[in-house]
Amino acid sequence: MQPLLQGRFGRPYLYLDRCETTQRMLDAAQPEGAVALCDEQTAGRGRLGRSWEAPAGTAILVSTVLRPPPERKAAELTLVGGLAAAIAVERATGLAAQLKWPNDVMLDRRKVAGGLAERKDGAVVLGIGINVNQRPAELPTGTKAPAGSLRSVTGREHDRAALLVDLLLELERRYDAWRDGGLDAVYDDLGARDFLRGRRVTVDGVEGTAQRITRDGRLLVETAAEPLLVESGEVDYRG
Ligand code: BTN
Repeated sequence: MQPLLQGRFGRPYLYLDRCETTQRMLDAAQPEGAVALCDEQTAGRGRLGRSWEAPAGTAILVSTVLRPPPERKAAELTLVGGLAAAIAVERATGLAAQLKWPNDVMLDRRKVAGGLAERKDGAVVLGIGINVNQRPAELPTGTKAPAGSLRSVTGREHDRAALLVDLLLELERRYDAWRDGGLDAVYDDLGARDFLRGRRVTVDGVEGTAQRITRDGRLLVETAAEPLLVESGEVDYRG
């Protein structure tokens, strides 16, 4: 896929038809904004040791090198990446997307994208996968949140190259804002897309109601006992 990249992100732009995972095409020796993309991954990785699968040529599978300053919490980059992906998905579909803390992009209550931030020798490699043109039968089954693609939700095919260009521009914009101003700088747009807010959730076996993503990137859950501030991990939800 040869997009017409416009911003600082995408220099250099490494492309392979097929790779194990775009996360391993990049390392700390690359400059910030280096991008790796594959049409197909043979060992795509998700969060919490899961796999990430998509038939060749149907998805956006992209990773970027970032060098956040020491005062920023690198873990917040999954939120920043998720926000950028949600906004790019909204522009492509004309529909509202949400972010399920900490990294799932939801469209019509289906997970259509996810982000993965991994540290590498002082840099962070942020990977984003967006399900774009998979047909319903091509989507993974048995996932915690039901999987969707832009196509399965809108009923039409989407231009992956155009979406990639928009995603990288949005990521650059949101990353720069976060680097300079922390999560506060993107908080309003994040909070407006908080999928879990008000939902019944379970965290490590404890039930409660999700209140909001906090200004320091945690998830606040009200429980019968005491409020929980969730730092990382998995949140199951009902409905
Ligand atoms: C998740 O929701 O669990 C995160 C999924 C991240 C998938 C992307 S696809 C591009 C990059 N390469 C990978 O192997 N994983 C990320």
